[in-house]
Amino acid sequence: KKPGPTVLFIFGGSGDLNQRKLTPALYNLWLDGLMPEQFSIIGTGRTDYSNEKFRDHLLEGINEFSRRKSDGNGSWEKFSQQISYLRMDVDKPEDYVAMGKIISDYEAEWGVEVHVLFYLAVAPQLVPEITTNLNKLEKAKDKNRARIVIEKPFGHDLKSAEELNRLLTEMFDESQIYRIDHYLGKETVQNILALRFANALFEPIWNRNYIDHVQITAAETVGVEDRGGYYERSGALRDMVQNHILQLLCMVAMEAPVSFEADEIRNKKSDVLNAIRKIKKEEVQQYAVRGQYSQGWVQGQQEKAYREEKGVAPDSSVETFAAVKFYIDNWRWQDVPFYVRTGKFLKEKTTLITVQFKEAPKYAFPPEASETWRSNRLTISIQPEMDIRLRFQAKRPGQTMSLNPVNMVFSYADSYDAPQPEAYETLLLDAMMGNPTQFMRGDQVEVAWEVIAPIQETWENRPPVDFPNYAPGTWGPEDAEALIAREGRNWITLP
Ligand code: BG6
Repeated sequence: KKPGPTVLFIFGGSGDLNQRKLTPALYNLWLDGLMPEQFSIIGTGRTDYSNEKFRDHLLEGINEFSRRKSDGNGSWEKFSQQISYLRMDVDKPEDYVAMGKIISDYEAEWGVEVHVLFYLAVAPQLVPEITTNLNKLEKAKDKNRARIVIEKPFGHDLKSAEELNRLLTEMFDESQIYRIDHYLGKETVQNILALRFANALFEPIWNRNYIDHVQITAAETVGVEDRGGYYERSGALRDMVQNHILQLLCMVAMEAPVSFEADEIRNKKSDVLNAIRKIKKEEVQQYAVRGQYSQGWVQGQQEKAYREEKGVAPDSSVETFAAVKFYIDNWRWQDVPFYVRTGKFLKEKTTLITVQFKEAPKYAFPPEASETWRSNRLTISIQPEMDIRLRFQAKRPGQTMSLNPVNMVFSYADSYDAPQPEAYETLLLDAMMGNPTQFMRGDQVEVAWEVIAPIQETWENRPPVDFPNYAPGTWGPEDAEALIAREGRNWITLP
């Protein structure tokens, strides 16, 4: 099924996100025959572009970032006929009148009522102004036909997120608001639901009786690049933990949904967020570790320290690494630690979820049979590797009873030929179809801010004395190892 006739406005049309992610996603959807029969994409911004120039700018993005490039058969040329540019100032209400006119012109031309998607790929401080102006537009108020997609960060803390939610829900229906978290569109993330709830095998042992702990690592091998200005107001906790990592945690920890209705799934996730133990301010040090990268050498190249990056204060206290231990106080998870960590300039690019099961209750084998007893583990590689591995003990061939952990592996690359759609393809299609399941509901965003607030506030009030405290190309500060090692565990990476 395809979406109905759609007019899609992209605020921030001349920006990076559109060039790198949004237009490539729309182009790939079109190549796959998934775009509406009738659609129009209108980029808006302050830059002066002719339609031609705008399309050229987007084509550069296709050739650099899209999973399928323009193919020389005229595909891009055909697709891009539906793209145009509208120069506007977001603070001028009269410029929105032009949008209203564009929509009614298409309705007249196509002879149908259209769906309208407003994608806000803009700095967060512009969101209140844009949405307030959109609210004056008759077409944007139509609850059944107009949707607004909002990029992260959604607020800066609990208070600002609450204010933004209040403002938006005073003007629009919650069902029109699509708060995007691009991790939820990743193929391997969506597969967690299939793994857990389309199999009878895992669920009976998916609880505190059998699981020792869970780990989530989201590691990057790049620094903040040219986003120093944004990152100074954010830091790893806001940039990655409040949204992507907590959403992954929800997927692992949620109860089984009764249906795939958007609110059913989102209720189950909200239950998890609400059950996360609030860390007391005086305990933050036992639960959370922060880090900031120094300068150093990575693969023969000298990298700058965070404090030397463009847009960053020379004495910045902003963390580029965060590790936290969470507990979920409910029947399923009581006392099972969830260790999460994320950071820039770490040793490997990997997003990995590890479910470590408890040890066998009794070993009949002599102690020398194995060096590793803790061997029952499920790892879900989200990216760049895309696989699921179940690790268990097996007998090593030979005349002695010697054990060795082995892996049973489901790999996407070995199992499927078809390329994986990008997260933004999935999410843009969902937004056009009006399916908010993989988007964040207002209450989820707020609880997620509440969860990280004690850490955030404690860190902000107590500037770090040891920054920078890790070198690029490592796994972060030593304290992050200690956080887990003092409980007799260690961070797991793929072999
Ligand atoms: C973004 C963060 O939300 O996610 C970035 O703002 C981060 O700092 C990015 O690099 C990581 O996304 P991905 O899909 O590359 O893992």
